[in-house]
Amino acid sequence: MKVKINNEEKHYRTVWMKESDVCMINQRLLPHRFKVHKCKTYIDTVEAIRNMTVRGAGAIGAAAGYAMCQAVIEAAKLPEEEAVNYVLDAEKRIRDARPTAQNLFYAVERVYNSTINADSLERAVSFAVREAEQNADDDAEACKRIGEYGQWLVADGARVLTHCNAGWLAFVDYGSALSPVYAAKAAGKKVLVYADETRPRLQGANLTAWELLNEGIEHYVIPDNAAGYFMKEGKIRIVIVGADRIAANGDTANKIGTYTKAVLAKENGIPFYVAAPTSTIDINCKTGKDIPIEYRSGDEVHWVSGMDGSGRIRKVRVTPEGSKALNPAFDVTPAELITGIITEKGILFNENKRFNLETLLQA
Ligand code: MRU
Repeated sequence: MKVKINNEEKHYRTVWMKESDVCMINQRLLPHRFKVHKCKTYIDTVEAIRNMTVRGAGAIGAAAGYAMCQAVIEAAKLPEEEAVNYVLDAEKRIRDARPTAQNLFYAVERVYNSTINADSLERAVSFAVREAEQNADDDAEACKRIGEYGQWLVADGARVLTHCNAGWLAFVDYGSALSPVYAAKAAGKKVLVYADETRPRLQGANLTAWELLNEGIEHYVIPDNAAGYFMKEGKIRIVIVGADRIAANGDTANKIGTYTKAVLAKENGIPFYVAAPTSTIDINCKTGKDIPIEYRSGDEVHWVSGMDGSGRIRKVRVTPEGSKALNPAFDVTPAELITGIITEKGILFNENKRFNLETLLQA
C-alpha cells in the first residue's frame, strides 16, 4: 500500500528481500516513526519476528520464508558437510520464533521443501529465493482477493468493528480484515471503522489507526472494553477480524480479546466474519484445542510505551511493582460464533456451527 512521508507517496510492502537482506517496516516504531529495519542474517530475521519488529500472521510468514532463504544462502558459503546441518538448525530456530501463526510454519516448510531436490548448493539457493518470493507474492495476491470478495459484505455507509491489526502491516500487502474495507472504499462506498485499541501491545491504536489514517478512512479508536457498549447502541453493523490459525472445523485463533467480541456480536445479532488467506488454515489441528497459544512476557502488561508531549518515545509502568501479570497473546473463537470466513477462494459460510475447510483447500 502507499505510505505518505513528507507529502510524498511511495508504495511499500511490509516485508521484502533485497539481495540477501530481509527488509521490513519497523512496526515497533509506528505510529510515531516510519523506519525500515534490515536483517543481514537469518538469525537477525528470527529476532525481528520474535521481538515483533515484524508481526501479523502473513508478514511473519513472509519473513519466515525469507529467513529460511537467508539460511540456505548462508549455508552455501560453508563446506558441504556443514551446510545441511546449518539449514536444519535454521529451520528449527525459525519455527521456534513464535508459536501461533500458522503462516510461519507454512512458509518455512514451503521454502525448505523447494530445496530438497536441488543437486547443488547453488541450485538450492536459487530454488529458495524463488520460493520465498513466490510465497510473499502469493500472500499479497490472496489478500487482494480477500478484499474483492469481502467488499460485498461491506455496504455503503457500513460501520465495521475490527480487533488488533489485520491490515496490510500484518501481511505483505492489502491485509485480511481491512482488505474488504479498502476495496469498499475503492468502489466508492463510505465506511466507518471502530478499531479496538488491543491491549497490551496496542496494535489497534498504533497500527490499525495509522493504516486507516493513511488510507483516508474515517475511524475511531475505542477502548477494548467499549465494543459491547457500541454494539448495544446499534453503532456497529459488522465485525471483521483476522486470524493467526484456523483449525479444520473453523475454530479460529486470533489476538486476545477476539473471543469476547464474537460473544458480544452473537448477543447483539451482529454478523462476525474472519478474514484470512488459506495459508492460515491448519488442517492438522482438528479443533481450536489443538492450537498452541503464545504467552508473552508480563512486562508487556506492566509497561506501556508512547510519545510524550515533547515528541520523545517513553515507556511507563502502569501496574504496581510487585503485581504479577498474565499475558496470553491469542484466544480461540469457536466456529459456532463465526458467520463466515473470507478467503482468497471465496466466502465460506457457517454450516451447522462448523466449516468444511478441507473441501475449501481442495477447491
Ligand atoms: O501478535 P501479533 O501482532 O503478531 O498478532 C497477530 C495479529 O495482529 C492478530 O491476531 C491479527 O488479527 C491476525 S494476523 C493477520
